[in-house]
Amino acid sequence: MMLRTTWTNQTTLAKEQQVYRGRLKNKRRVAIKHIINEEFVETFLREVKNLALVKHPNLVTLLGYCDNGDECFLIYELCVNGNLAEWLFGKDKALSWIQRLEIAVDSARGLWFLHTYSEGCIVHRDIKPTNILLGPKLEAKLSDFGLSKVIDIGETYASSEVRGTFGYVDPEYQSDRQVNSGGDVYSFGIVLLQIISGKKVINMNANKPMSLVRTAKSLTRGGSVVGFADPKLEGEYSTEAFELVFKLAMSCTGHKPERPSMGQVVETLEKAHEISVRVMASKTPLNIQTQQTM
Ligand SMILES: Nc1ncnc2c1ncn2[C@@H]1O[C@H](COP(=O)(O)OP(=O)(O)OP(=O)(O)O)[C@@H](O)[C@H]1O
Ligand SMILES: [Mg+2]
Repeated sequence: MMLRTTWTNQTTLAKEQQVYRGRLKNKRRVAIKHIINEEFVETFLREVKNLALVKHPNLVTLLGYCDNGDECFLIYELCVNGNLAEWLFGKDKALSWIQRLEIAVDSARGLWFLHTYSEGCIVHRDIKPTNILLGPKLEAKLSDFGLSKVIDIGETYASSEVRGTFGYVDPEYQSDRQVNSGGDVYSFGIVLLQIISGKKVINMNANKPMSLVRTAKSLTRGGSVVGFADPKLEGEYSTEAFELVFKLAMSCTGHKPERPSMGQVVETLEKAHEISVRVMASKTPLNIQTQQTM
């Protein structure tokens, strides 16, 4: 029924699952997640139940699934531009400031949609760059709802195990085990810091391994935040928008009661985008002039 070819750039894959590219009979290109370990069937079924009903342009669409007992297949729309981590950390790829903001706005909208889902708040629980996938126009879509659980809006419940990925898990959750949307806001704040700095979650080059939040604080201690900007941007960004996003990211990773909602995050990111488009547009004629006089 479908062509199965090995996914080409597998890096961070958990051993229990493989992702393949495929093509349906109707020529539609798809991504197929093969889950082999029986232990993961429960996660699989949870993901199916959640994803099948939840649809939004900024969420990866689940097209179908196949459950064979101890192995399962999930069939997703294919996001041809891979994941955000490849773009942020890959040597041969670079994103402009505006593209970064668009990706941030898109993923924030996806998460906002989950948090305000009509049937009850859906907490993603594993927000990180490899779970932010990019479509043909670099539009961002959140993937992997395997770790998410539907909870009532505003309510929390105690979880017996810490889930999520090292470096992105809310430190307050690690101690109080309260699962709610605030944990996703924390992880999203970390992703925002990565989007503007191009840095990994842990700085292994420091004398002592340092978290991204601490690196951000130490690099901006003098008051200027531009020292935290990704060198790959080559200075091509709006300082005002950069400061806005930086502050937003820090508030997302701050103490839980003071964190913004994803709705507020979307609003601020849209504002940063608007400022940047205006600033970049005002810069362009100058650049063109310079080129013409050369
Ligand atoms: N629908 C899809 N379209 C395109 N690429 C995909 C799709 N789903 C997954 N991938 C690719 O396969 C990679 C592996 O996905 P997978 O979810 O198995 O692992 P991960 O995201 O790296 O980690 P985790 O298991 O913690 O989510 C993704 O990072 C992405 O590059
Ligand atoms: Mg994933």
